[in-house]
Amino acid sequence: MAFEAEAGAALLIREGRREDLPAVVAIERASFPTPWSERAFRSLFARPDAVLLVAELEGRVVGHAAAWFLGDRGELADLAVDPSVRRRGIGRRLLGEVVGVAAERAAVELYLSVRVSNVAARRLYSAAGFRVVGRRRAYYRVPREDALVLGLEIPRPAPAVDDHEIR
Ligand SMILES: CC(C)(COP(=O)(O)OP(=O)(O)OC[C@H]1O[C@@H](n2cnc3c(N)ncnc32)[C@H](O)[C@@H]1OP(=O)(O)O)[C@@H](O)C(=O)NCCC(=O)NCCS
Repeated sequence: MAFEAEAGAALLIREGRREDLPAVVAIERASFPTPWSERAFRSLFARPDAVLLVAELEGRVVGHAAAWFLGDRGELADLAVDPSVRRRGIGRRLLGEVVGVAAERAAVELYLSVRVSNVAARRLYSAAGFRVVGRRRAYYRVPREDALVLGLEIPRPAPAVDDHEIR
């Protein structure tokens, strides 16, 4: 898509900072019936196991992703894109960066929960290689709905070529 190429040039994915939180919370409120609070996002900064990424388009924060890692498992806990710029590849870019962070942190699997009815997110995750690994009955309360648990195996980075092996 033409815009995606354009956005690709202007789109920056970077770690979130405190000053990004008002924009992050506005996107969160426009995206979920029970959005995370600014305090919930702020608490991520104090957690070495957690990461908050933001997508910046022409200087404006337009999306975010939050994930945390325990042992060799990661959980994508939050992903949202500003409704005004959806369907332009920004969610896919954020997701790709989270997978990259998972690989850097030596995670072997990345998990997430998604509403059964959330077709947009399910397509995004499925195209990225996530598979359904479970279902949590009535996991979401407002409105009440099952969650699908999706998992992605994180590819191991190719080992560095060792001089001794190729002699
Ligand atoms: C899910 C969400 C993050 C996707 O962000 P996005 O930037 O619009 O997604 P992308 O443009 O990167 O789309 C990537 C792919 O996802 C799928 N997709 C995204 N939105 C879709 C929609 N409305 N309908 C169907 N498929 C959709 C498509 O396969 C799309 O690829 P394509 O455009 O080449 O067909 C966004 O819709 C959102 O913020 N939703 C509300 C919050 C949410 O549900 N978060 C996920 C919680 S688990």
